[in-house]
Amino acid sequence: MKKKLRSQEWYGRTGKDGFIYRSWMKNQGLPHHLFEGEKPVIGICNTYSELTPCNAHFRDLAEAVKRGVWEAGGFPLEFPVMSLGECSIKPTAMLFRNLASMDVEESIRANPMDGVILMCGCDKTTPSLVMGAASVDLPSLVLSGGPMLVGRFKGKKIGTSDVWRFAEDFKTGKLSQEDFIEAEAAMSRSVGHCAPMGTASTMAAMVESLGLALPDNATIPAADSRRKVMAHLAGMRIVEMVKEDLKMSKILSRQAFENAIMVNAAIGGSTNFILHLTAIAKRIGVDLDLTDFDHFSAKIPLIANVQPSGEHWVEDLFYAGGMPAVMKEIQKHLNRDCITVNGKTLGENIANAECYDRNLIGTLEKPIKPESGIAVLKGNLCPNGAVIKPSAASPHLLTHTGKAIVFEDIDDYKAKIDNEALEVDENSVLVMKNVGPKGYPGMPEVGNMGLPKKLLDKGIKDMVRISDGRMSGTGYGTVVLHVSPESAIGGPLALVKNGDMIKLDVPNRSLELLISEEEMEKRNSSFKPLSLPYERGYVNLFLDKVNQAHDGVDFDFLQGSSGSEVKRDSH
Ligand code: FES
Repeated sequence: MKKKLRSQEWYGRTGKDGFIYRSWMKNQGLPHHLFEGEKPVIGICNTYSELTPCNAHFRDLAEAVKRGVWEAGGFPLEFPVMSLGECSIKPTAMLFRNLASMDVEESIRANPMDGVILMCGCDKTTPSLVMGAASVDLPSLVLSGGPMLVGRFKGKKIGTSDVWRFAEDFKTGKLSQEDFIEAEAAMSRSVGHCAPMGTASTMAAMVESLGLALPDNATIPAADSRRKVMAHLAGMRIVEMVKEDLKMSKILSRQAFENAIMVNAAIGGSTNFILHLTAIAKRIGVDLDLTDFDHFSAKIPLIANVQPSGEHWVEDLFYAGGMPAVMKEIQKHLNRDCITVNGKTLGENIANAECYDRNLIGTLEKPIKPESGIAVLKGNLCPNGAVIKPSAASPHLLTHTGKAIVFEDIDDYKAKIDNEALEVDENSVLVMKNVGPKGYPGMPEVGNMGLPKKLLDKGIKDMVRISDGRMSGTGYGTVVLHVSPESAIGGPLALVKNGDMIKLDVPNRSLELLISEEEMEKRNSSFKPLSLPYERGYVNLFLDKVNQAHDGVDFDFLQGSSGSEVKRDSH
């Protein structure tokens, strides 16, 4: 017998309840037969917003999804959810990722839908939608908005990873104010999210490797008409997924998460990936911890030659064969039996993939770089772990001992970094405290702190930097991030003093503050936790409930899926 659609719990009712659930919907000009239970209701969860420029083309894209849903015999209903524009939201979009995920979860569960298309683009819009949907566990398919076309400035290709270079050139007077402004327009010349393998494209690749998106979802440029074709096909496919009852939990197996970690290494993906994948795993009930990231990425070299770890852009990667071609190169390591949203296994999806440009896609034997992925550090400075992205670091600094220059917080850093009197040289280790999940609520992307001007003037390009904050997916450098537990709640990072020696040893995965245990204990006994300034509203909830970086910076009460059932009616 055919399974009754979930939406019929609303629209299939008789009497007053059925009248109420259907009548107001009909003010949109929807005929009665749409509510009779033959057509799966497909929610189109849209993060369109003019304040999220990376997703500002989503109205158009949603129309293409609807065409696909109609064609396949479904009934599309679009709904908005909180959208997070990375470059505008203060103090940091990460502060609101969990809030947006709650909006998504409750919007899906509370409404009459049988399956969902998750329209994701700018960095946090992907994890927030996937986390929220995972907590409900309906058939769900992710459609990404696609990367921008690569920018052009003074004859050179540019993208978000150049912002940091432009900023340094501006600081040292190599770039004028006029050039700076011209570069802004030249970089963002089309719809779509950031052009390098920053967090947005890392997230799009993550959902493709998890099996939550159709093949090529991650790389088709936003401005390419094939992006709309993908949206149309996604709309068609979600209708079938409902009929097959292909729920998220059937796709998001432990093996799928292992694949995502290996693929992230192959593309040199963002360190933010760790926080988001961990949070998604804990929502769906898959056991994943920091050591898995190191273990599964250790055997994978850098395969995709895309910035910031490589030279090119996500647009170029599409022309070279896209994620299927990248995954094919590491297929012997992947769990190829994992089922994906199109009903095929990952192995089937990549079987016929081809590489069209070896400048863009390397091989296991001849990779772009031998080391990639995420190295997870342990030591007395980070008992619950810290992370570094070796492919974005300077090889000569991966093993380094230097004197700490300590900044108590981001304001202290800004006040002192360019002070001529600061006793800093290229061997120093810059340490920033109080930028973790609670210390600077939301854990901002300030971990790749800019170098002192006097060292930039000398031509120094990189130094070891350590913090409990995050780094933009487009950032680079020898940057240790996500130190856990964070300094604001008494993690050992809080105990570091100016002049202490710190030893970073990435090959041996260690990060040590070179002081005696007695001294550590003495400093610890006089430590006073940071007094946190906020008292009301969502930030209050965040400070109360957020967990640490190694647990995904999620709220403790959101972990685990509570399913799609709603027991009560309102009328
Ligand atoms: Fe939206 Fe980079 S600012 S993806």
